[in-house]
Amino acid sequence: MDLTELVRTAFAEAFPGEDFANVKVVPATDPRFGDYQCNDALKIAKKVGLKPRDAAQKVAERIGGALKVEIAGPGFLNLTVSPEWLAGELAALAAAPKCGIPQKGAGRKVVIDYSSPNAAKQMHIGHIRSTVIGCAIDRIFRALGYEVVADNHLGDWGTQFGILIKGYRECLSDDERKYLTVATLEKCYVLSAAKAKEEDGLWKDACRAELVKLQQGDAENLALWKRFIEISIGEFERMYAKLGVKFDTYRGESYYNSMMPGIVEKLLAMGLAKESEGALIVDLSEEKLGVAIVRKSDGGYNYTTSDLACVESRVKDYNPERIIYVTDDRQQLHFKQFFSIAAKMGFTGVKLVHVPFGLMSYQGKAISTREGNLIKLDDLLAEAKRRSLEIVAERGGDEHLAEQIGYGAVKYADLSHDPATAIDFNWDKALALEGNSGPYLQYAYARVCSLLEKAGVGDARPEGAAFAVETPAEKRLALQLLEFPGAVVRAAEAYKPSVLADYLFQTAQLYSSFYQSSPILKSEESVRNARLALCALFGDVLKTGLTLLGIETPRHI
Ligand code: ARG
Repeated sequence: MDLTELVRTAFAEAFPGEDFANVKVVPATDPRFGDYQCNDALKIAKKVGLKPRDAAQKVAERIGGALKVEIAGPGFLNLTVSPEWLAGELAALAAAPKCGIPQKGAGRKVVIDYSSPNAAKQMHIGHIRSTVIGCAIDRIFRALGYEVVADNHLGDWGTQFGILIKGYRECLSDDERKYLTVATLEKCYVLSAAKAKEEDGLWKDACRAELVKLQQGDAENLALWKRFIEISIGEFERMYAKLGVKFDTYRGESYYNSMMPGIVEKLLAMGLAKESEGALIVDLSEEKLGVAIVRKSDGGYNYTTSDLACVESRVKDYNPERIIYVTDDRQQLHFKQFFSIAAKMGFTGVKLVHVPFGLMSYQGKAISTREGNLIKLDDLLAEAKRRSLEIVAERGGDEHLAEQIGYGAVKYADLSHDPATAIDFNWDKALALEGNSGPYLQYAYARVCSLLEKAGVGDARPEGAAFAVETPAEKRLALQLLEFPGAVVRAAEAYKPSVLADYLFQTAQLYSSFYQSSPILKSEESVRNARLALCALFGDVLKTGLTLLGIETPRHI
């Protein structure tokens, strides 16, 4: 029985003809105020000219059965549920597929644009956030039933390719060319870019000439470029495999090259773009968004143009209801500008959402080449594994387990924070076995698994066990478990996996108080079974939730 529905019905009976679609029942902020509360009687009172408490009274009289109602303060409805209601709800949640996550997205499509590193460079610590936050949003939307197109908008075009092609030809050995890796490409870029700074400008001109050849479709340069991109994607996929990330497509910036002139023509025809100092611009100063250049004075297109072409192409190919972009918050102006232009161009059937995230520092220091801590993602993950191995080896854990824990720790350290905030990555905090960390939650899961195994029930609840909620600790845990589907919905609505991470951490803490205060295996059978059923449901919720965050859940640690 849905509490919100029940309370809405009572409102509708008390005040026929009014609209109560927005009436909400939320968990009580304090157990002293009951289990749930509803503050909507105050609003309706104003409308119908009643004193708030009297309006609340009229509603309260019509809520019965499973709920005890109290009117508090100026007219809040405090609701207390019965143990039978709770037992019924827990059983329904335990029986529901996907832990009751509502299929709100069924028949709906979204594109999620995330990770999107630049090609020919190794991924580094700065790429974690877009990858990990984007992946969690991706998983959460899929769990809600959305059809998701995960699109990696690679930075795979631009002046760097002229420098790279020249460097490839002249700065590498035969073997380096033969066994080309991203690391070699990176090295070749550095060498070639340094030469491009030489006084005579010859190298720079040669790079420029290679770029022009590439842009004009020269077969050899195009083949080289393709090879660079393939090698880059291969290397990125090696990282993604470690992180449990999978893309449906890799349409990088280059994919939109041929569509850019059309976009600019459209902007001109619609009177949205105008000439300014040889360039074409869209003036957004009325909206306080400055000016966006859509074609440079040298005739080249830029980021804004490519993102506009990209929206057009995604609408045409996928017709999604939403496109979600996960990038760092320094790109906010870019997204505001191009969202505004896209709307003016008539792309109004698709909702464009930017999920900006704050910068990450590493062990208290800004991440920069100068600080010498622009750590390669590969190295960071290797260190996570090494550190975890030290912890799990004591308990007989192997390398695979060390990866599950180490990579989980790195991800959770990010996901447990609101994406909008700047964060600091710290090894001790990320790997702490106590406190709000990935390993803490993974241990909680492993512990509940071993408890259920000890009880001889695997990870299911004991056959025929009925939920029964009696003690305060049981009740708090039970109420919390019922909030799981809501937490997933809220995380998706806010585009914040941290909402789910917070929920899981709180749930694990409530589980731990329940576990400490409630003997399980030694209790008499019906209590033991009811408690085991609660444990099993906790295990399911935790596993499902961690999986949505992209964190693995080993059964034995
Ligand atoms: N490649 C860009 C970067 O490294 C991110 C691309 C984000 N996606 C987009 N459609 N603009 O910052």
